[in-house]
Amino acid sequence: MTKPGITIGVFGGGQLGRMLVQAARKLGFKTHIFDPFDDTPAGRIADKQTISPYEDMQAVTNFAKTCDVVTYEFENIPVIAVEQAARFTAVYPDKFALQTSHDRLIEKTFLRDKAGAPVVGFAPIETMNSLSGFMKKYGAPVILKTRRFGYDGKGQIKVDTPRDVKAAFARLGGTDLIAESFAPFVREFSIVAARGREGEISCYPLTENVHKDHRLHTSIAPADDRQNIGDKAHAITHRILNALNYVGVMGVEFFELEGGGLIVNEIAPRVHNSGHWTQDAGCTDQFEQHIRAITGMELGGVVPKRSVKMTNLIGDEILQADALAKKPNSYVHNYDKRDIKPGRKMGHVNEVLEEK
Ligand SMILES: Nc1ncnc2c1ncn2[C@@H]1O[C@H](COP(=O)(O)OP(=O)(O)O)[C@@H](O)[C@H]1O
Ligand SMILES: [Mg+2]
Repeated sequence: MTKPGITIGVFGGGQLGRMLVQAARKLGFKTHIFDPFDDTPAGRIADKQTISPYEDMQAVTNFAKTCDVVTYEFENIPVIAVEQAARFTAVYPDKFALQTSHDRLIEKTFLRDKAGAPVVGFAPIETMNSLSGFMKKYGAPVILKTRRFGYDGKGQIKVDTPRDVKAAFARLGGTDLIAESFAPFVREFSIVAARGREGEISCYPLTENVHKDHRLHTSIAPADDRQNIGDKAHAITHRILNALNYVGVMGVEFFELEGGGLIVNEIAPRVHNSGHWTQDAGCTDQFEQHIRAITGMELGGVVPKRSVKMTNLIGDEILQADALAKKPNSYVHNYDKRDIKPGRKMGHVNEVLEEK
């Protein structure tokens, strides 16, 4: 058991960092947030913050020297920052998890070849011809994505017919691209799981996810497992975590096909929006679980006592927070972001559906 009083460093000061700080506090740990901007949701409530670009190696060194363990709350942290921090302290998840998830081509190749996970057909795309060829091979529609920096559906286009190839290239060309065959899913779900320093693994139950405008809208857990896919999804998740020798919480996004087939869509080497329901489910929440994993504590229980529906509050939906908080069995989590912007995740509400 790790001693209270140690300091946990987090790269990234957004809402996920904030909820990691809250969880770390609860366990008696100190926190230090590193973010390029002042006045971030996490930086504001941490014991310490460093405001600096991630590329400033001196700032990263100074930060790492104050921390007993360092983690990150989003995957677009430059690998050099994690490498530099790792020269001075423990960093979990390590740089391999970060590198793998930085680039959709590397990620999909890893999932297929190293983790034995089912994935859609995919190929790197350099020219319009190669996209047309890909479409011929896999059939329309296909999805064209930027290999890096995509999130919330940004940096991707569905290409419905060969006639749309040119327009898709006009929009996304100029950067490295990947094409994916279209997964005709009946449902999207995720598994949020943790792997500890000794390799022990705990998976939360199946979480059903509904997207709106390409952004996660609601998550319901435990999801109805009508096609009996839970065990299979957990087994795939184990393989992914082990193949990366991963430490911490990870979100694994899946497509469920008719007939019970599964496809892994993507992995996130961090706490995940689809795991926010755990905060009000009566089990260890994913933020505490992540802190437990990276500090070498025992992992906590992952069996929920209640089923919960999580709804993201996007943009000015946060203005309904007071009204929502009045509803019995609804718990509002407000990230205290300074400016309301359309599309910005401002908070979420967990509604308890049923006691188990
Ligand atoms: N190959 C695919 N087939 C079908 N739908 C897809 C495919 N790739 C992405 N999508 C849809 O787009 C959403 C966002 O894509 P994703 O790859 O998860 O990117 P992001 O990083 O933006 O979350 C998915 O949740 C899914 O609804
Ligand atoms: Mg996604």
